[in-house]
Amino acid sequence: MFDSRTRTVVIVGAQWGDEGKGKLVDVLAERADWVVRYQGGANAGHTVHIGEKSFVLHQIPSGIMHPGVRCAIGNGVVLDPDTLFTEIDELIADGIDVQGRLYVSDRAHLVLPYHKMVDSLSSASREIGTTGRGIGPAYEDKIARRGVRVLDLRHTDRLRALVERGVKHANALLASFGVAERADVDSTMTLLQRLAPRILPITEDVGLVIHRAIKQGANVLLEGAQGSLLDIDHGTYPFVTSSSTTSGGAAIGVGIAPTAIHAALGIVKAYTTRVGNGPLPTELEEPLGAEMRRLGNEFGATTGRPRRCGWFDAVVVRYAARVNGLTGLAVTKLDVLDTFEKIALCTGYKVGDDLYTEFPGDLAALDGAQPQYEWMDGWQQDTSHARSLDELPAAARKYLERIEELVETPISHVSVGTRRDQIISVGREASPVSSGAN
Ligand code: IMP
Repeated sequence: MFDSRTRTVVIVGAQWGDEGKGKLVDVLAERADWVVRYQGGANAGHTVHIGEKSFVLHQIPSGIMHPGVRCAIGNGVVLDPDTLFTEIDELIADGIDVQGRLYVSDRAHLVLPYHKMVDSLSSASREIGTTGRGIGPAYEDKIARRGVRVLDLRHTDRLRALVERGVKHANALLASFGVAERADVDSTMTLLQRLAPRILPITEDVGLVIHRAIKQGANVLLEGAQGSLLDIDHGTYPFVTSSSTTSGGAAIGVGIAPTAIHAALGIVKAYTTRVGNGPLPTELEEPLGAEMRRLGNEFGATTGRPRRCGWFDAVVVRYAARVNGLTGLAVTKLDVLDTFEKIALCTGYKVGDDLYTEFPGDLAALDGAQPQYEWMDGWQQDTSHARSLDELPAAARKYLERIEELVETPISHVSVGTRRDQIISVGREASPVSSGAN
């Protein structure tokens, strides 16, 4: 993945999230100097399995598992300071040293208790099926220019004025929802004053730090959260998260130039899942959906909610390849399909007499859409021991080749299990998207 021309790589989910980004970041971080999160917040749940243990990281970049790698949380993230330190303390308890290896952007906005109250009590959040982590309300405050940033923790008086403004706005919303709960300035200030002595020492101008690292030739992984179809602009709006999950968001969310990013790796499951509401054209009916959920253990890492499951949708992933400029694809959870006799790939949607082969912006176009499937033979063999393409059954190779053709992107990695070593590095990638950062 990293070479002399490709040193800054962005990793994005190319479906609706939960594609296995945590595992791929963990695998690729072996050769990285830095891993940086650029959007989202504690709504993410990146799972890394090491030996018998599994870790679910919500805000800390998945590179933290490698002792030599430094990690940063960029300005584009909305940071929940309370759960950040719970996560840090859990890692320390598990013997993972984060001292001197984790930095937080001074410009990142904070998710405060009142954001979580608004998120969990609003009917709009329920309709979307949000994670209830306060993500939407925190980004709303950011865009409305009433947010509280990490750097505000340095100035107690200014901080109090900002919190007062945020609480006032949140309470007006809570009143409009007709609920009795109210946010409170003093308890929010007490929380922030307790956490400030821990946050401020790890606060940095992350954009500058990463810019300098790139200039010095460091390998930098930018770790996206959620998936491209949950992007605020390019996803299935309004059933999306509130950030730019696609590769373009990485430059903004870290504070580096778009031209500093050399490659974009899209992570896709060998099938499709979605958690929360909104269109999922290839969603399987029961009992097949439940069977795939059971085989893939498809339950949310953050909320525990069952994920909706469907066949691989090549229309969705080709769209994600275009919007992100994907230079490679990593296909995960291939082993979950090991027992299926027949496997389907969606190549278009039929609506009346119209055939859609490009993902539409207007979700009304998906109402009653009939996915057009290409059926392929399953391999009905265990793939979890394969460590090279040659070790995969011929039918599995054929399935992957068809994905490459339909998505028009080369597959660079195939994951065949949860463990770090259950990975096939194919080594095929398109050429870097730009000529370099310096
Ligand atoms: P929010 O990000 O909590 O506002 O939720 C908005 C939508 O994004 C909901 O459908 C969530 O289920 C979905 N979502 C948010 N984070 C993730 C994730 O990490 N994986 C999968 N779906 C997510």
